[in-house]
Amino acid sequence: MRITVGADIVSIHRFQEFVHDINHPALKKIFTRDELDYCFSKGAVEPHLAARFAGKEAIIKALYSRDIQDVWYIDIEILNKRNGVPVARLKKDMYKNLKLEISLAHCEDKATAFVIILGDD
Ligand SMILES: CC(C)(COP(=O)(O)OP(=O)(O)OC[C@H]1O[C@@H](n2cnc3c(N)ncnc32)[C@H](O)[C@@H]1OP(=O)(O)O)[C@@H](O)C(=O)NCCC(=O)NCCS
Repeated sequence: MRITVGADIVSIHRFQEFVHDINHPALKKIFTRDELDYCFSKGAVEPHLAARFAGKEAIIKALYSRDIQDVWYIDIEILNKRNGVPVARLKKDMYKNLKLEISLAHCEDKATAFVIILGDD
């Protein structure tokens, strides 16, 4: 089985300007409604936005390694299990043969993500 990886790191302050408007058009281009609901349910919104953005970039990198270049930020959704573990998936019917594994982390000023994609193209 083929494995590709992706990683990304993002400055959290990039998302500061969006934290008061869940309906900001720039956010809606990148994040799904459920992702925005999750991030805006948190005391500090921007680390969660930044971590998801890093996750989407990392997934796009891991897909590029397979020459897949038609997946956009909004085609990716990163939500959490009840225990907090993040789960990433592509929009319905996109590359159903691929399995995504993701880990996110954030500190005071940076958010980072690491992704593994498994499956044969
Ligand atoms: C879960 C835990 C490891 C997260 O570590 P942390 O340094 O606080 O979190 P970070 O800021 O680095 O990362 C946060 C991200 O981790 C992810 N995360 C949260 N809970 C998680 C879990 N249980 N497993 C894996 N990832 C988790 C989420 O994606 C979260 O970001 P998000 O809310 O934006 O999606 C930590 O809170 C914890 O529970 N530590 C105690 C572990 C322990 O003692 N276990 C022994 C049990 S007997």
